[in-house]
Amino acid sequence: MTKQFDFTVNGKPVSVSLDNEETPLLNVLRNELGLMGTRFGCGLEQCGCCMVLIEGQPEKCCTKPVWSVAGKTVTTIEGLGTPTRPHPLQQAFIDEQAGQCGYCLAGILISAKALLDRNLSPTRPEIAQALDDNICRCGSHNRIMRAVEKAAAQMRAAVQL
Ligand code: FES
Ligand code: FES
Repeated sequence: MTKQFDFTVNGKPVSVSLDNEETPLLNVLRNELGLMGTRFGCGLEQCGCCMVLIEGQPEKCCTKPVWSVAGKTVTTIEGLGTPTRPHPLQQAFIDEQAGQCGYCLAGILISAKALLDRNLSPTRPEIAQALDDNICRCGSHNRIMRAVEKAAAQMRAAVQL
């Protein structure tokens, strides 16, 4: 039987009708809502490239059933910034050329945003801890760390203006 699920994605209310309420949120974002920025990697909650914010908390959504987000707020990489108005993290990742293939970056940016939302002065160990669930096969870790530090510094400066 088809069921309807209502939730909020990137600030907009959405409603999807599905036969299977166990359909992963990742599939719904990509296939029903056309939000292709969130990646499918392992499908086993192992790589972090499907990370989204649910109620502001970073969570992998490749196995998370859609019913579990009914009534909640979801933020995907598309909700961070736009090409003309990128989030400071996105700009810093560009400035530092932090990605190589880029496949991991949507998940990493989401984890980094969750970190900076609660701590604008993270130490390197705190950044590493926040990104612990995100795998980068290209080994771009040093540039990614630098980019997060740069974004944090820029966001601190903006707060102090
Ligand atoms: S695709 Fe979800 S953790 Fe790898
Ligand atoms: S930049 Fe290629 S997996 Fe991270």
